[in-house]
Amino acid sequence: MKFSGKTALVAGAGGGMGFEIASQLIRRGINVTLADIKAQPNAIPDGPGEWIYVQCDLTNADAVSNLVSTAAERFGGIEYLINTLGVLWIGKDKAVEDIDMEIWDQVFNINLRSIALIVKYAVPHLKKADASSMVHFSSIDALSGDMAPQDAYGASKAALIRLSKSLATQYAADQVRSNVILPGPALTPMQERWQGKPDIQLSVAEHIPMKRLGKAEDMANAALFLLSDNASYITGTELVVDGGLTALP
Ligand SMILES: NC(=O)c1ccc[n+]([C@@H]2O[C@H](COP(=O)([O-])OP(=O)(O)OC[C@H]3O[C@@H](n4cnc5c(N)ncnc54)[C@H](O)[C@@H]3O)[C@@H](O)[C@H]2O)c1
Repeated sequence: MKFSGKTALVAGAGGGMGFEIASQLIRRGINVTLADIKAQPNAIPDGPGEWIYVQCDLTNADAVSNLVSTAAERFGGIEYLINTLGVLWIGKDKAVEDIDMEIWDQVFNINLRSIALIVKYAVPHLKKADASSMVHFSSIDALSGDMAPQDAYGASKAALIRLSKSLATQYAADQVRSNVILPGPALTPMQERWQGKPDIQLSVAEHIPMKRLGKAEDMANAALFLLSDNASYITGTELVVDGGLTALP
């Protein structure tokens, strides 16, 4: 894969997929600003790309504005924006009939509004670059109903797909691309309910045609492709990375 861009901002970089994406970009010599509400993780690669870690709440407009200015000033611009932040609140996020609407609002605030905020502040920088790319993380849960629903999660992830299509059309002439990845079940901190439970992992994997759970690396590989020059004519689309799960009848 070829990367003409030199700088990236990864939102949600303290999590499984965001951390892997940031690490792969740094290893490829790209300068990365990592942002997350969590404290800085250990083992961020030494380089060759440079990096800074900004701990902040990405639902807060002032924090996002500061983050984007810090990233652009530190590295002289922003060419790649990766939005991996998100929450899946199993147990609290339920069917609409049962959900506390306060939880509904919080999930939408984190999974959708924060990404709109990040884009709002980052787009002027993306437009300044010769070519730039955004990748947002939705979920296969955006595509269908669920007998055990997390309705706020699924609806917020579906709305993100629509937002990305709008961004793609608005900024295509500026050579700013916007695409979405829809992961299937993947073993990351988000799925801590499966950590250390090989029997449950096996039973989930059994439903997946490729017979394994996804990994952060699977999602990072797809994200890096969509960011790269190899995907320079791809915008406004979705890439499902789920081991064939949604291809089942
Ligand atoms: N893991 C899966 O099975 C799976 C499946 C489908 C979709 N996804 C989606 O992929 C993306 C990445 O998932 P992951 O598995 O790496 O999850 P993760 O929980 O490991 O990472 C998400 C990160 O978002 C951060 N975050 C949450 N709220 C924030 C806030 N207000 N401000 C700043 N940071 C905040 C968290 O601290 C966390 O580090 C998510 O959007 C998720 O919904 C994951």
